[in-house]
Amino acid sequence: MAASCREFTGLARPAATRQPQLRRSRNELCFWPPLEQQEPGQQGRRRKKPAGRGVTVVAAVSEELPRLASTAGNGAAVAGRPPPPGKVAVRAALTVRRKHKEDLKEAVAGHLDALWDMVGRGVALELVSTKIHPRTKKPVQSGRASIKDWSQKRGAKGENVVYTAEFTVDADFGEPGAVLVANRHHREFFLESIVVESGLPCGTVYFACNSWVQTTGELPDGRVFFSNKPYLPSQTPPGLREIRDKELKDLRGDGTGVRKISDRIYDYAMYDDLGNPDRGKEFIRPILGGQKIPYPRRCRTGRPPTDTNMLSESRVEKPHRIYVPRDETFEELKQGAFISGRLRAVLHTLIPSLIASVSAETHNFQGFHHVDNLYKEGLRLKLGLQEHLFQKIPLVQKIQESSEGMLRYDTPSILSKDKFAWLRDDEFGRQTVAGINPVSIERLTVFPPVSKLDPEIYGPPKSSITELHISGQLNGLTVQEAMDKEKLFIVDHHDVYMPFLDRINAIQGRKAYATRTIFFLTQVGTLKPIAIELCLPPSQSGEPRPSKVLTPPSDATSNWIWMLGKAHVSSNDAGVHQLVNHWLRTHAIMEPFILAAHRRMSAMHPIFKLLHPHMRYTLEINALARQSLINAEGVIESCFTPGPVSGEISSAYYRNHWRFDLEGLPADLLRRGVAKEDATQPHGIRLLIEDYPYANDGLLLWSAIGSWVESYVQLYYPDAGTVQNDDELQGWYHESIHVGHADLQDAPWWPPLSTPRDLAAILTTLVWLASAQHAALNFGQYPLGGYVPNRPPLMRRLLPDPERDAAEYAMFLADPHRFFLNAMPGVLEATKFMAVVDTLSTHSPDEEYLGEGRDEGAAPWTGDEEAVVAHLVFVADVRQAEETIDGRNADHGRRNRCGAGVLPYELLAPSSAPGVTCRGVPNSISI
Ligand SMILES: [Fe+2]
Repeated sequence: MAASCREFTGLARPAATRQPQLRRSRNELCFWPPLEQQEPGQQGRRRKKPAGRGVTVVAAVSEELPRLASTAGNGAAVAGRPPPPGKVAVRAALTVRRKHKEDLKEAVAGHLDALWDMVGRGVALELVSTKIHPRTKKPVQSGRASIKDWSQKRGAKGENVVYTAEFTVDADFGEPGAVLVANRHHREFFLESIVVESGLPCGTVYFACNSWVQTTGELPDGRVFFSNKPYLPSQTPPGLREIRDKELKDLRGDGTGVRKISDRIYDYAMYDDLGNPDRGKEFIRPILGGQKIPYPRRCRTGRPPTDTNMLSESRVEKPHRIYVPRDETFEELKQGAFISGRLRAVLHTLIPSLIASVSAETHNFQGFHHVDNLYKEGLRLKLGLQEHLFQKIPLVQKIQESSEGMLRYDTPSILSKDKFAWLRDDEFGRQTVAGINPVSIERLTVFPPVSKLDPEIYGPPKSSITELHISGQLNGLTVQEAMDKEKLFIVDHHDVYMPFLDRINAIQGRKAYATRTIFFLTQVGTLKPIAIELCLPPSQSGEPRPSKVLTPPSDATSNWIWMLGKAHVSSNDAGVHQLVNHWLRTHAIMEPFILAAHRRMSAMHPIFKLLHPHMRYTLEINALARQSLINAEGVIESCFTPGPVSGEISSAYYRNHWRFDLEGLPADLLRRGVAKEDATQPHGIRLLIEDYPYANDGLLLWSAIGSWVESYVQLYYPDAGTVQNDDELQGWYHESIHVGHADLQDAPWWPPLSTPRDLAAILTTLVWLASAQHAALNFGQYPLGGYVPNRPPLMRRLLPDPERDAAEYAMFLADPHRFFLNAMPGVLEATKFMAVVDTLSTHSPDEEYLGEGRDEGAAPWTGDEEAVVAHLVFVADVRQAEETIDGRNADHGRRNRCGAGVLPYELLAPSSAPGVTCRGVPNSISI
């Protein structure tokens, strides 16, 4: 690591000393005589015209960054004309990001603001020194200055516009450590950065803002932005202490009131808005959160209760937006809203159109060709679609001269690489280690497998799989020998589903088993399914559970039964993947850590700076999920087998299994028994399935993240005392556990936060979950799940059974294709599901990938040179990981990711183009 640091020191100028560069032409302006301490309303009257002898500066127009023409450097003079004795000229350049297109209302507001600006109701700034005044003991402040060129630049082209404000301060002003911004316009603006240049000894100071600045009507006290220099709370310069505390207090709010869209208050609430009891009984859902149904907390919105249940929060239905703090919204200025716009278009327009277009007669797929046609001919949408939707939903093509659309899906990779791969057992096994749910496979250590559910209710806990079922499949080994040689593995969804099966199977069109699948690790490193157990609940409490054990087929009938069994396993797996591993274990569990970070750690806290890119857009996508995906009768309920018990299934996992200390990759692999500790191995563990693409590639990224976080933590925390005495850091972690994860706060496994090592471990886990883990679970959803027969999200029929239903069995024998297709989701469920997972698998054009997104804009993310260098090492490690991953995908010895028609495993390859690419690791959970 040290060698790498040296190597990279010379690659880029450290951020703190980097000067913004002019990128295009320059033009010259003059400093006005100092007027900045006037009240804005007086400026118009007292301003003099610039004289030829004015101080010449190079200033920016439009998107260019300004800098002073000459650098005095001695603190006494700037750029030619000396300021009055004892004074120093200072200029602030604000980079404001603008919308590409304004609607009429916004254009009018823009004109009004320009006029308003001319009469002095503009944007005012004030610099706050890091010093306090020796006599008053208050922070030294500059006096107010208004942005003077807002109205002139109204018509300037470009995404970014740079405005300037000028100050004259005492030569002993000290270093500007904060800028107060008051927006007295009619509408908010997005402030990307402020660069403060001066002849002060501190030189240029950078403020990375990236925030919406509300009007003083909404935020009477204005905003504060801190320079990019990180400070632990105890090291906060005296001039900034008070405003550091006040800013955090404002962000926490007082826990009351209905949140307005423009607010930026971070607070907690339970998931009490998923149901809508006012719409009827079928829309009632339990509140997730509390001792009975434990759950992480979500962002509080403060909406009033429903009419029929005081404990349920009323819903905000589409197209209205659910509150998230203002800076958490998808940024429409940078096409960050691209995906949310697309998701909204799918949910609000496409799905209703699908419902209208798919008639009852075509509810079931008539043959496999019918499924294939979704990618060839497409599906004609009968409802009229508005013009802009054809751009928003790429799957929909306009039918010539009509407002109707043809919905033609992209062929999912699982089909385009090898149309028949999904039928094979080796592919079924491969997907357990290189698919979209590669985190459920465990080593089998007890045979037969045993349920941990209460036998009083669910009957004898032992599985019905016997040695006889599998002994012929073990290359001559006995079951015990195969277990001893670490050759047997299991995907066990039994205990997740069993408690809910009665309720699921009572729903019309839903049929599920609680499944177990045993795999044998072959000599070439692939996994072969050797037994599938399909269980149903006992008919009476404590009675045996009816179950079927399937083994690899030997004739036509058993082949079809085996295929149906695998479909039920895949369906179980799809539900666990979506509800537990994807939603709960990444999206939902991160939210409290993010809320607490904003509430308890200042923007100038080094750990907040570290976490910042890993928190981007998560609150917003989670809010969107509450509104349309995980809500009562939302997409998840309607497309996945568990339906209305979805929330309870994920809560049960949270209560019984989720442990923060085991969510890091090595700990998770050890818990599942698929790895063993081994100090001789590069990552300290040895994988029992050597060719385990998710784990192989994940360990590369885990190690890169771990090294980066550790080196960063070392910069600020030399010993345990600094960790223990950091009130903000301790407040963040304490609140994440005791408020955000309050239902599990008494669990003994929460890792302590007492040493730098503890801190690095906690942060590594969070960064891992937000980036690589989420990417592995998210971006393959369409490429692998978009072909529904491969991974049906729901099943509608149990296996055919001559004893249970002779007529149905006869129908199965007569037309097994049809039986299989009728057991899968119908056309409407399948097409709905495909449209949604297509969007969920899409990278937006403004995605920020692991190792990126730190040095955007005029102001570097940190003023700490050592942190910048450490990050460059991380960037290099991530690139190296990507090269290694590319190499592995070309290695024919790795049969789980390379071979005839085999999909390469790229879900943990860090970079990606926009769109559905089945690769790319964004920094944060943003979809
Ligand atoms: Fe996601």
